[in-house]
Amino acid sequence: MSETLQLSPQHFVAEGTERRCFRHPDDENCCIKVLHPDSGCDRLWREARYYSRLQRRGVDFRHLTPYRGLIDTSMGKGAIFDLVIDDDAQISRSLHHYLTQNDQRFNAWIADEIENLKQNLYDQWIVFHDLNPTNILVKRLGFDEFRLVVIDGIGHNHFFPVASYSAGIARKKLVRVWNRGYRQWYAGFPLVAGDLKPYPAI
Ligand SMILES: Nc1ncnc2c1ncn2[C@@H]1O[C@H](COP(=O)(O)OP(=O)(O)O)[C@@H](O)[C@H]1O
Ligand SMILES: [Mg+2]
Repeated sequence: MSETLQLSPQHFVAEGTERRCFRHPDDENCCIKVLHPDSGCDRLWREARYYSRLQRRGVDFRHLTPYRGLIDTSMGKGAIFDLVIDDDAQISRSLHHYLTQNDQRFNAWIADEIENLKQNLYDQWIVFHDLNPTNILVKRLGFDEFRLVVIDGIGHNHFFPVASYSAGIARKKLVRVWNRGYRQWYAGFPLVAGDLKPYPAI
């Protein structure tokens, strides 16, 4: 019989619209995301399945967090992912946090980094549904050296997951999602939004 892992407020990291994120009490490199009590479990399963497929396909996880499995916790079913931390061992802050600082040098650098991230996801045909700046963390690697890591919004909600098997269909999907969504996702940050581009039509 599998045991239930006790989570307590001291492990709490942050809360999104659907989930709460906790530090794994037994593994400092991992976090556990549990759904809010009123949400169905579908989302955890779908995301888990998609990440497992990506891992089997051997994609490069430089801009993603590896998925480590599901677990029963005192707060409900949870999904385990690698925790994103900075070079000083602090939990990395979100892109939204950095953009609200309105730092000129950061803003000048970030649009290119988002474009690189977009290209990486396209090349590896990794489908996403929401790349808003709260779903991307800015991992500090060293002085003036950062990397974007997507922690949420990856995958799709297709019941028949053709986009998980076909590079062509996956790319069509992610191009459509980005081209429809990016202006709205970055609407609060017009200086950066103005430098972002749609994917060329395919
Ligand atoms: N792998 C991670 N490492 C560090 N912090 C994380 C990680 N995943 C999520 N978080 C934090 O928890 C918050 C909520 O997680 P998220 O997966 O975005 O939940 P939701 O599905 O509710 O939006 C994020 O905005 C981020 O601050
Ligand atoms: Mg989120």
